[in-house]
Amino acid sequence: MKVLVIGSGGREHAIAYALKKSKKVDEIHAIPGNPGIAALGTCHNGSVEDLEGILKFVEEHDIDFTVIGPEVPLCKGLADLLEDHGHKVFGPRKFAATLEGSKAFSKDFMARHHIPTAAYKEVNTYDEAMIALKEFSYPVVVKADGLAAGKGVVICEDEKMAKETLKEMLVDGILDGAGSKVVLEEFLTGFECSLLCFTDGKTIVPMVSAKDHKQVYDGNKGPNTGGMGTVSPNPFLPENMEEIFQKDILNPFMEGLKKDHMDYRGVVFIGLMIENNQAKVLEFNVRFGDPETQSILLRLDSDLFDIMYAVSTRSLDQVEVKWKDEHVACLVLASGGYPQSYAKGKVITGLEKVDDDVVIFHAGTAMKDDNLVTSGGRVLNICALGSSLQETREKVYKAAKVIDFEGKYYRQDIGLR
Ligand SMILES: Nc1ncnc2c1ncn2[C@@H]1O[C@H](COP(=O)(O)OP(=O)(O)O)[C@@H](O)[C@H]1O
Ligand SMILES: [Mg+2]
Repeated sequence: MKVLVIGSGGREHAIAYALKKSKKVDEIHAIPGNPGIAALGTCHNGSVEDLEGILKFVEEHDIDFTVIGPEVPLCKGLADLLEDHGHKVFGPRKFAATLEGSKAFSKDFMARHHIPTAAYKEVNTYDEAMIALKEFSYPVVVKADGLAAGKGVVICEDEKMAKETLKEMLVDGILDGAGSKVVLEEFLTGFECSLLCFTDGKTIVPMVSAKDHKQVYDGNKGPNTGGMGTVSPNPFLPENMEEIFQKDILNPFMEGLKKDHMDYRGVVFIGLMIENNQAKVLEFNVRFGDPETQSILLRLDSDLFDIMYAVSTRSLDQVEVKWKDEHVACLVLASGGYPQSYAKGKVITGLEKVDDDVVIFHAGTAMKDDNLVTSGGRVLNICALGSSLQETREKVYKAAKVIDFEGKYYRQDIGLR
């Protein structure tokens, strides 16, 4: 089989790495890919948002199966375009992808199908927002409706901040179209975690748990990032949550898909807030999370291609999804300054000195004059399997010292409380 992976991050490298292990996968291609993926297959220039260009590529290169990594092409309807031309795809079609593409749509879905979530109100104008605001106490959560690359949610401590944020989104349009509609939401307290699942719309199979570390500094200080590291299993997850997730979240979710005739085939990444053994949904993402995927897929003990193909062909109930009873840590090496401004083009050294049992995924790297250089805020993901969290931490932190580039930064406390 010739498989095409859409995307360029550590997530897509981890997907390509897992697919490469399948006997059924003969060739891996990526648009646009990255230098890490290039070691597993062939990377091709192109944009993940150029739907027609991707279709043309699939047809010209006789691609058998396309795996869509990021949310933007999914929300734009890449799965629809490819499938409607007879090609097999992993990733939901546009209507289902709206669960991520529109926060208001997603909240309405949850309300309609009795999936526990924070109280909310959708508003379309600043005046409407001022009236709705009176129904909430502080802090209040202000969420831009559309895709905003992690910049669309603001927790507002008081009325002044809420008004400013609403003005920026609804009047000034700082998030462009993404903020022309807004969801006001009750602030939830508790413990945040995510639950990733494979689903073909009929069957849903939860993956193993992972804990991510969103803030840039140790002790969860500083601004949020795309994620500074993950461990799997999630050491902080209370016991017996699996049953609660199934009953309170996954069962009504699947019922909801059925009732709404939503053809959902792919990964659903459910953001949750847990308090007193009760789980509430913060959001749905319609794809793998980055960097959770890097940890989770290293624990997969089944053939990822078989699972993805079964999802695509609505036969997930026919495959076994097995996991290794091991721990994984994934540490992000970032460019100093990230998530604000940072330098690019710094030469990366020392990769060849890393121990063999460490797996490195590329997230923000590029080739320049035969050198591997930094090209993003999150540069590399250092991952290792082990029999304990402690062991995996030792392995990834040892490698983090050996790899070097100017401005290298990483958190010291991945997997610790
Ligand atoms: N209702 C809420 N109560 C408390 N915190 C929230 C709430 N909604 C979102 N958050 C916080 O904001 C973050 C981002 O919100 P989320 O809905 O996941 O949007 P996105 O990932 O698209 O930015 C969450 O990870 C969580 O920390
Ligand atoms: Mg989120």
